[in-house]
Amino acid sequence: MRNRRSALATMAGAASLALALSACGQSSEGGSEEKAGSSEGATIGIAMPTKSSERWIADGNNVKKDLESKGYKTKLVYGEDDPDQQVSQIENLITQGVKALIVAAIDNKSMNNVLQQAKDADIPVISYDRLILGTENVDYYASFDNEKVGELQGNYIVEKLGLKDGSKKGPFNIELFAGSNDDNNTRYFFQGAMNVLQPYIDKKQLVVRSKQTALTQVTTLRWDGGTAQKRMDDILTSAYKTERVDAVLSPYDGISIGILSALKSDDYGSKNKPLPVVTGQDAEVASVKSIIADQQSMTVYKDTRELAKVASNMVDALLNDKKPETNDTETYDNGSKVVPAYLLEPVAVDKANYQKVVVDSGYIKESDLN
Ligand code: GAL
Repeated sequence: MRNRRSALATMAGAASLALALSACGQSSEGGSEEKAGSSEGATIGIAMPTKSSERWIADGNNVKKDLESKGYKTKLVYGEDDPDQQVSQIENLITQGVKALIVAAIDNKSMNNVLQQAKDADIPVISYDRLILGTENVDYYASFDNEKVGELQGNYIVEKLGLKDGSKKGPFNIELFAGSNDDNNTRYFFQGAMNVLQPYIDKKQLVVRSKQTALTQVTTLRWDGGTAQKRMDDILTSAYKTERVDAVLSPYDGISIGILSALKSDDYGSKNKPLPVVTGQDAEVASVKSIIADQQSMTVYKDTRELAKVASNMVDALLNDKKPETNDTETYDNGSKVVPAYLLEPVAVDKANYQKVVVDSGYIKESDLN
């Protein structure tokens, strides 16, 4: 393994050097015309995390389509949720001579070496949806307002339990789930939700019977639904002998589906045991169907078609010596630099507005929901 990895690193290093040299050659010889020419028809590398979730399949396809419509070629790879595999895929893309990289990282801290190789080969890097941490070699960040995602989830719970507007209702039981600890978005989602929920926990209107409230206790490695299901099972067994859970903060639809399976195995959803309020994110088909069937309560819709456009526009600007459009140059500090970002707005979706927001907008086909 070690040998293979170091051999790969050497190969990529040599390729980087060759690319860097040829890039130098071009800019020293050619004027601006030649430079613009060099981006035309260039190949862009797109590294996505996994095909196990439909949103990333759509993200990959949308980015590919947008770049191709601008005249670029693309190479799209999926890392199957394995950080080492993703790093070697990116090394390969660099070796193959891509002119820019769009990366949705699996492990946001595993990219240092490979992004140094990108830098050495003069390849700009767009951090896609998830911020890559601990390296200077990330140029721009395209994402959604991730803290707002959590706020929408927290607010939905507070509203559905009738706690809004100073009501003294409660106490209600709530359990908390967060995303993968190696994804930087996780802490923003959780922080946003807890900004809303913590005051009610402090006033004891919301009670976390499992006592698992710290982010480190509630994360779900690789956003895995099965892992969340198991944790919910364990919580129901240990902390809910006679009590009922009234709400579950879930950061992502795949996790929500796992949580709902655990709840249903414990008879929730039957006549005398209503399902709790369960949040989600991504407006995946399975979850929108679950919302229509009165199981999952809500999801947070993020129009990944728009995100793909933002990322493709960033690449196009960079390869044509223009400054990409940003709307946040303060929030996203990756530990080495504040990465200039363009953030899109997430939207809360439930049974009342799913038709308008996700179907009428063409994000999900009506026929897929039947
Ligand atoms: C996050 C992303 C979410 C969700 C999750 C699991 O990084 O922002 O929208 O997709 O990964 O895939």
